[in-house]
Order: sequence, then structure tokens, then C-alpha cells
Amino acid sequence: MMSSPSLMPEPFKLTRVPSLKTVADFRAHVATLGIELPCEDSIAVGEASPLCAPVRGVTVNGKNIGNRWAIQPMEGWDGTTSGGATDEVRRRWQRFGESGAKLIYGGEAMAVRPDGRANPNQLIIIEENKSDLAQIRELLVETHRQKYGRVDDLVVGFQLTHSGRFCKPTDKKRMEPRVAFRHPILDRRFNVTSDAQVFTDSEIDELIRCYVRAARIAWEVGADFVDIKHCHGYLLHEFLGAHTRPGRFGGSFENRTRIVREIVAGIRSDRNPIDIGVRLSAFDLVPFKPDPARAEPGKLGPGIPEDFSQCLPYRYGFGVNAQNPTEPDLGETHQFVRHCSELGVKILNLSAGSPYYNPHIQRPAAYPPSDGYQPAHDPLIDVARQIQAVRELKAKAAPGIALVGTAYSYLQEYLPHVAQHVVRNGWVDVIGLGRMTLSYPEILADATSKGAVTQKLICRTFSDCTTAPRNGLISGCYPLDKYYANKPEAQRLKEVKRAVGT
Ligand SMILES: Cc1cc2nc3c(=O)[nH]c(=O)nc-3n(C[C@H](O)[C@H](O)[C@H](O)COP(=O)(O)O)c2cc1C
Ligand code: SF4
Repeated sequence: MMSSPSLMPEPFKLTRVPSLKTVADFRAHVATLGIELPCEDSIAVGEASPLCAPVRGVTVNGKNIGNRWAIQPMEGWDGTTSGGATDEVRRRWQRFGESGAKLIYGGEAMAVRPDGRANPNQLIIIEENKSDLAQIRELLVETHRQKYGRVDDLVVGFQLTHSGRFCKPTDKKRMEPRVAFRHPILDRRFNVTSDAQVFTDSEIDELIRCYVRAARIAWEVGADFVDIKHCHGYLLHEFLGAHTRPGRFGGSFENRTRIVREIVAGIRSDRNPIDIGVRLSAFDLVPFKPDPARAEPGKLGPGIPEDFSQCLPYRYGFGVNAQNPTEPDLGETHQFVRHCSELGVKILNLSAGSPYYNPHIQRPAAYPPSDGYQPAHDPLIDVARQIQAVRELKAKAAPGIALVGTAYSYLQEYLPHVAQHVVRNGWVDVIGLGRMTLSYPEILADATSKGAVTQKLICRTFSDCTTAPRNGLISGCYPLDKYYANKPEAQRLKEVKRAVGT
């Protein structure tokens, strides 16, 4: 069970998606991978496209979500140091408004208080930033109105977060982690050296009040919902896996899910009518690292699991098989989905893993970010894993909650074909788009209006939008969005990439 380089498969040669020239080629390649990843023969247009139908059975702030694609939350590392908006933030939100998506997660995670930021330039949702937040929401909505003629079916939410283990609130290079529990593998990676970095129960009570205050601000500046972030190893996700933590917020399922319950109860007792969403890492795996034995000069090794032999049963995650943490386990995830329905959560956005410790399952890519590793297998396997997990969860979910799926960007040319299939067949309600919308916000608007997409704008998963912020630079699509290509940061990014070998 323990990972050993000699037991790992030999490096494989990646078949690049653009080399698959037809749907038949794509299907034939998928068949060689032994996965179920169906796609339709051609791109449907207008009413014939299942992507153009409104979401049924759920209203958010009294609105029906007007179509089946969403802009996922994506931090930009480019706000002011007091958590307000800049021109870069405004431009990104405007582009999201242009995308045609009728469900938009603002544009990014907002910290509920300054020390919970993942970087010193993250947006902070506090009283002082109210007018900036109101302005960027309005800009997005107005841009959408001008281009698409109506906004009564446009739903915009703000994602609320505390970055926990990944906090860097004051200096781009200095980690200031606060955690739910001591982790036998991640502590050394993220500079957790003392129990004083573990949140106490009373500190959590105070943090819950910060979420409630943030939700009030979101409502006052016009957001249709707040998303309570429970994904990617950030604080509330970590609490879902806090099996080893004593006290009110650890141990049993009831205790590990107490925070979301108390946030929802706090929002309601504040008489705040805002609707609520949750973004969840539906499953997780043990942390991965580049295989040092297979690194080449100027190139990271392929990803292998960290040695977990001393941590079994693995009681440090959520949605992961405790006996073999290289496998997901959706048992508790089903329970959590049911619980969200009981709490009145309207939108559940499903993702997986963490971009910091197992990025291949979270954002499948042909090219790794600077702190990642080369793909050890075809990333379509990771795309299919997320699609199938959402399908399974959706099949058992109660009516009245919309499920958003993730990790479609790696599909590239075939994104519209696969998206159509999964929506048409009820595997998911809404297609969530991440990286693709940094390079090509209008991909599904084009697909569903013209039946075709513009090849040169397609995200090729170069990971520069992740590598840049990991190295203290603003995020953005440096390779394909000219706005970034011409910035001085583009040169700095080239140097970073050369130095780390991605
Ligand atoms: C630059 C960047 C920033 C991101 N920031 C967030 C974030 O603030 N909140 C969040 O839940 N996910 C965040 N993500 C993850 C994306 O929402 C999405 O889950 C991921 O990119 C996989 O989807 P994709 O294959 O369409 O890119 C970010 C991703 C990228 C590339
Ligand atoms: S930098 Fe651009 S092409 Fe690369 S992953 Fe990000 S959005 Fe895609």
C-alpha cells in the first residue's frame, strides 16, 4: 500500500487533447483509458442545447438560474492590501459578466477577516470594503445586462473563506497557518510547528460570527447568495476531516459538520434572508509529491503519493478511504449532501482534493504548476473521476438543491460535447468552468450560439495562472490573454518556470 517508486507505472506519453481531431478520435482515446467519459457527436445550438435550459426546481433569491454553466470562484491575488478591488479585479469580474454564464461565484473567494487571507492581496469582505464589493458586483451585472439583455435570471454569489493552513495574509512569501488539527504529512509542508496554531473552540465561535457578519455584508451589497467554502484544504474543509480533534468541532460527523450548521443558524438568526451555497471537496486523497527518482534535469518527476505508512488508518481527510488513502470514499459525502439539503442550502458546488497537495485530482492539467508534479497518468482520468462522483451524488441528492460540477477545462475542444451529455442525462445540474474562463470566458456562449468554439482561446492547462500566484505574482492567463502577456510579471514568470522545471 505504501508508495514505492519501483512499483509505480513507467512514465507514459501524454496524448494531447488537441491531437484528437474528431469526436471519434476522442472516444477511441477515452476507451483506451478504461473510463466512462461520454460525449455527444456535435455541439447543439440554442434551444436544442441542454445547456441553454434554465435550472429547474431551485430558485436563488427568487430567481431561476437562466442556463447550465457557471463561473467558478477564482482568486486573483490582485486586490489592494486592504482587501479592496483594483483595475485587474474589475476587469476579471467584467469578463465574467460577459461570459454568458447565469450562475457566477462572484469572481473569487473573499476572506471573512484579514488574517484568513491566502495572500496579502485577497479581497476581504468587511465593512470597509463594502463600496468596492458593491461596485464590482454591479459592474459584472451591468456588463451582463448590456450583452445579454436581461439579468432577472442571473445569479451572483460571493464565496466566503478562511484559508486556514494556507494563510499568507501579510507577506506573499510568509506562511501564517492556522489549522483544525495537526497533520502528520502537511504540517511540515506548511510550516505548522506548534499546537498554538490549532484553532481553539472559542476562536471558532468568533470565526463563525465573522462568517455571519460577512453574509450580512454580501446581502447588503446585492449578492444573491453566499457560498460557504468547504473545499481544497482550506479551513472549513479541513474541519470536515478533523477526526483526531477533541471537543465540539472534531471527532464525530456531527461535530465535524457543526461549523456550517452554526454559520447557517447565525445567518438566519441575524434575519438575513440571503440564500446559501456550499462548495465542497467531495473526495480527497493523501498528499502527493513529485517522484524524485524520476525527475529529469529541468523537469519535475511525476506525482506519487507521500509515504502514508505511518498514518494508517488515515484519519486526516474527508471523502477519503481510511484504509487506502489513495482512493476516494463517498460514504460521508452522501451524508453531507443530505445534511446540506436539510439546512436549506440551495447550491452545492462539488470539487475535489486540494490545489496545494494533490493538484492533479483538483485541476487536471497537462503541465504542472511550479509546486506540483508531472502527470503520472492521463488527466482525463481525473476529469472522469470528478464527473462520476458528482453523478453518483446527484443520483441520491434530494430535490431542491442544484449541483454544480467541476474540472471540465481539461476537456478543451470536447468540453461542450461532454457538458451537453452530462447535463442532458441529469448527471449534474450546472457545468462549473474554472481556468477555461480565464482564457476564454465566452466558450459556452459561443458553443451554444454558433455551434463552434475559437481554437486559439482554448485553455491548454499550462498552469501559469497557478504558478504565478504561487510565486507572488498576480494570477491570470499569461499565455493566452494578451493583457497579462504584456505585463512585466510575464517575464518574471518565465524565469520562475525555467528555475523550477515545469
Ligand atoms: C487561479 C485560480 C484560482 C482559484 N481560486 C479559487 C477560489 O478562490 N475558490 C475556489 O473554490 N476555487 C478556486 N479555484 C479552483 C477553481 O474554481 C476550479 O475548481 C479549478 O480550476 C478546476 O476547474 P477547471 O478544470 O475548470 O479549471 C481556483 C483555480 C484557479 C486556476
Ligand atoms: S494560464 Fe491560461 S492556459 Fe494556462 S491553465 Fe491558466 S487559463 Fe489555462
